[in-house]
Amino acid sequence: MAPSVSHIGQPRNRVDGRLKVTGAARYAAEYQANELLHGYVVVSTIAAGRIVAIDTREARAMPGVVQIFTHLDRQGVSWWDRDWQDDTAPPGHPFRPLHSDRILYDGQPIALVIAESFEAARNAADVVHVLYEVAPHQTDIHAAEADQYEPPKKREGVPPPPEPRGDLDQALAEAAFRVDAEYEQPSEHHNPMELFASTVIYEENDKLTIYDKTQGSQNAQQFVSAVFDLDDVKVVNAYVGGAFGSGLRPRYQLFLAVMAALKLKRSVRLELSRREMFYLSYRPITLQKLSIGADSNGKLLALKHHAVQATSLFEDYQEAVVNWSGLAYQCDNAAFSYTLSQVNTDTPGDMRAPGAATGVFALETAMDELSYAAGIDPLELRLRNYAERDQNMDKEFTSKALRECYAEGAEHFGWSKRQPTPRSMHDGKELVGYGMASGFWDAQVNKAEAKVRLLADGSVEVLTAASDIGTGTYTILAQIAAEAFEIPIDRVKVSIGASDLPTSPVEGGSWMAASVGSAVHLAAEAIKTKLIHRANRHHEAFLPIASADLCVEAGMVKKTDGTGPTISVAELMQAAQWDAVEETGKAGPDMLQMQKYISYTHSAVFVEVRVDEQLGVARVKRIVSAIAAGKILNPKTARSQILGGVVMGVGMAMHEEGLFDHGTGRIMNHNLAEYHVPANADIEDIEVIFVDEHDDKVNPIGVKGLGEIGIVGVAAAIGNAIYHATGKRLRTLPFTIDKII
Ligand code: MOS
Repeated sequence: MAPSVSHIGQPRNRVDGRLKVTGAARYAAEYQANELLHGYVVVSTIAAGRIVAIDTREARAMPGVVQIFTHLDRQGVSWWDRDWQDDTAPPGHPFRPLHSDRILYDGQPIALVIAESFEAARNAADVVHVLYEVAPHQTDIHAAEADQYEPPKKREGVPPPPEPRGDLDQALAEAAFRVDAEYEQPSEHHNPMELFASTVIYEENDKLTIYDKTQGSQNAQQFVSAVFDLDDVKVVNAYVGGAFGSGLRPRYQLFLAVMAALKLKRSVRLELSRREMFYLSYRPITLQKLSIGADSNGKLLALKHHAVQATSLFEDYQEAVVNWSGLAYQCDNAAFSYTLSQVNTDTPGDMRAPGAATGVFALETAMDELSYAAGIDPLELRLRNYAERDQNMDKEFTSKALRECYAEGAEHFGWSKRQPTPRSMHDGKELVGYGMASGFWDAQVNKAEAKVRLLADGSVEVLTAASDIGTGTYTILAQIAAEAFEIPIDRVKVSIGASDLPTSPVEGGSWMAASVGSAVHLAAEAIKTKLIHRANRHHEAFLPIASADLCVEAGMVKKTDGTGPTISVAELMQAAQWDAVEETGKAGPDMLQMQKYISYTHSAVFVEVRVDEQLGVARVKRIVSAIAAGKILNPKTARSQILGGVVMGVGMAMHEEGLFDHGTGRIMNHNLAEYHVPANADIEDIEVIFVDEHDDKVNPIGVKGLGEIGIVGVAAAIGNAIYHATGKRLRTLPFTIDKII
């Protein structure tokens, strides 16, 4: 029966929006404490070698300085011996700040200054004198490529390259059309508004309350408890100022701030600078090779995809880069490989659609190249090779409305107006180009718990340790609970962002809404069942009715068919002397279902670029992104997710690039003046379309997640449009003027 109050599927404002725009929402570095101490990190200025001497005398004598920690003076913390790994760690040994005299990368933290003020700490950090012994380093993946290796141990949660299938070499030999090409992506660096920061509130007996910039309060809490062997630690991340993967792992400022707080028995805040953000957790530099063979009708016969990605000297970071090529299109002869090369940087990290943003860029550019080789419209080529079944896993899709994405996206964009020949469309002195690409991302459910509490006054509380990294978790959880109890959204109180709440995974992988949303839904249903049973057993009028015929609707327990007795939930709770009814919902992957089915989100991205031929300036004039992601809980926050992903895709295509000076092994553009991201003027018209996709298998609420799909395919679609405009094929990101002209 249709509920009288509908919240799911409605474009609701963010329930935390007002707190955010008024500054009332506090972030990790904004919490205060009595006699709070401040930290500042000294980082290495060489990329490899060791510290011969570190002289802190002058710094110690500076006004306000309390303590300076170095590898020689790290206060007996025992973490060095512990083999602790966080929830999303790759194989290897997590970086241990101040562990020894060894330098593994430029920008490595080598000392922590603690002072009475931030300014005092920063001043003193300037006069910490370091003598190095310099060793050879490598930051150039082209040079390191020779030493590529297959990671001996797989990273948990990242599928290895798919098994080969068919006879690749023969199929390639028989192909009527072939594309063999190499693609390159530079390092891309996370720059959320909120910097990494930890405010550690110290209380007697080493009781810690830590406000941390993290995508998972419980992951950070477990890190601190394990490494420092503490019992009484709570981590809070009530609001998170953006973090598309960089905050999945505990970052070194958390370790350093806790170490200092424990030693000094005082509260400590450590916030990294924008420069330091560039040294950690970046989308790895990736080189890819693709060979595609097709028959005379453009049907794929053969596909080969190899990728080599940068990793650090101490962890085998891994992404699923080539896997997407195995599932995107029907192709019976295929082979995939994936290797790593070590460079002197911090371990790369997840960055919005890790692996897919990278791999699909190469695949969807190669498909575009094939379309021109075969003389087939790029969209038509994809339709001819549409995958009805996932060949990597040999499984059915729980749902796949990619065809609808193609159709609705093309319609809104006006794809039919495209003239096939490159350089054939003009507008004044600008060349006009139309390009498109497909996008793919996982639709996963992760283990999550949520407690829902129905109070006597009819209001509802939701409690879970989930995070809201700006994605809208507060809002969609409130919507799901409000829908279940048919109450206004402001009668739901959502408590998330603290480690002492019911178990939730880190916010990543686009699984938060599906996982925690399902848990809230299941908890609410359990509460209704409890109310029905109570009425059924204790209220005479309900005794003869089967509980299966009863429901809770608009605050009343009644028969589903609307006849017979009713009792209000309030009356029921009063008679039972219940102050509240509380249930915990648990969601997780459905193993039985997963034997047969697999689930992905899909997109079709259409782009119009304009290229000034004389100046080589390309601008992205229009983007239409059509998304299939199951049920859309909130079209307003959902659209914002996709807009953000598309803008990040524009950055990937046109701007973002970590520039290494391989001579010094240093990232030269470690600031937002020289590391370019799209500004308002770079973003013109973006249209987001959600196509209908009903999915009753993926999870109890039919939701697939939207955090990452928005970026996938965007860079390829832009490059393909530039080719259409100019006839110049670009295979190295970003597509800057020097490459276009
Ligand atoms: Mo996402 S890159 O898993 O935060």
